[in-house]
Amino acid sequence: MHKKTVFSGIQASGHLHLGNYLGAIRNWKAMQEEYSNYFCVVDLHTITVPQDPIELKTNIREVAGLLIAAGLDEAHSVVFVQSKVRAHSELAWILNCVTPMGWLHRMTQFKEKSEKQKEEVSVGLFAYPVLQAADILLYDAHLVPVGADQKQHVELCRDIAQRFNHRYGEVFVLPDALIPPVGGRVMGLINPEKKMSKSEEKQEDSIFLLDTPDQIRSKIKRATTDSSKEIVFDQQRPGINNLLTIYQLLTGDNREQIEAHFEGKNYKVLKEDLAEVVIESLRPLQEKYALLTGDNNYLDQLLSRGAERAEAQAEAKIHQVTVSMGLR
Ligand code: AMP
Ligand code: TRP
Repeated sequence: MHKKTVFSGIQASGHLHLGNYLGAIRNWKAMQEEYSNYFCVVDLHTITVPQDPIELKTNIREVAGLLIAAGLDEAHSVVFVQSKVRAHSELAWILNCVTPMGWLHRMTQFKEKSEKQKEEVSVGLFAYPVLQAADILLYDAHLVPVGADQKQHVELCRDIAQRFNHRYGEVFVLPDALIPPVGGRVMGLINPEKKMSKSEEKQEDSIFLLDTPDQIRSKIKRATTDSSKEIVFDQQRPGINNLLTIYQLLTGDNREQIEAHFEGKNYKVLKEDLAEVVIESLRPLQEKYALLTGDNNYLDQLLSRGAERAEAQAEAKIHQVTVSMGLR
């Protein structure tokens, strides 16, 4: 039986956090046996905003190591670094030439990021979603498991593929985003109105996957709550709702069980319980990460095998694309 193909990517712009884990990585692991998978550290996306070269290099390895530590397995998944497969840049250029500027102007993530950057905004940041489309389309991916913030980018990818196919024939598979019903948008601890993110200025807002137990306890202790007392799921109370959602995702208990568990207890108990759940959930991943990064060659070799496998598929696709356009 032919398995469907999954592609997803993750930036190397900083430390991975619980939002990345619950919104993306842990779902990638859970579904990997059912599909044929490509998981990519998208370093070419990362450089759409300025990066320190030494930090970037470290971050690429850290992200790749964490993907492996989280359970992505070579038997089912090709794990690789985007810049090692040149076809991503090549297809991105080709797709730039079939994508109307107006489509990119509508991307909400670009609007947000460019507001922060002002005059520094690069052409690369504007064209970012086109590179993302190239990533997905090179592998004939059917499904793209991502957090809720990437829905618009995957829809754009579909539109670009459709436009290309219309002009040049049925070259690309039209992909669908796969967004988890719960966990698609884990919020910040201090500011639960905004999603948890990698950005440097929000260290206290995010639980990073490599945080120590003490850091985890201290961050959760300081998480924003409210003046109400009841510990129940309620969208109108973003702080408590977010803490309970994280608890739900990590324990696998349902909402009724969780509300019953915390009935009559105070926020201090919720925070202490949650901290222990987070610490224990991350422990196996942290142990595996320590083990695999202890051997320098292990990760390098794994990534180099991944790039080789990805390249074989990507080059075949580029061939098909360029033939269809009259470039070959
Ligand atoms: P990024 O860190 O932007 O490269 O995101 C990598 C993956 O994690 C993507 O699938 C995102 O949608 C997902 N993700 C990032 N932040 C969050 C969050 N706060 N909650 C849920 N998913 C997230
Ligand atoms: N833009 C995605 C993010 O920031 C990362 C990404 C790049 C991606 N290429 C991709 C995700 C292809 C899914 C498929 O989260």
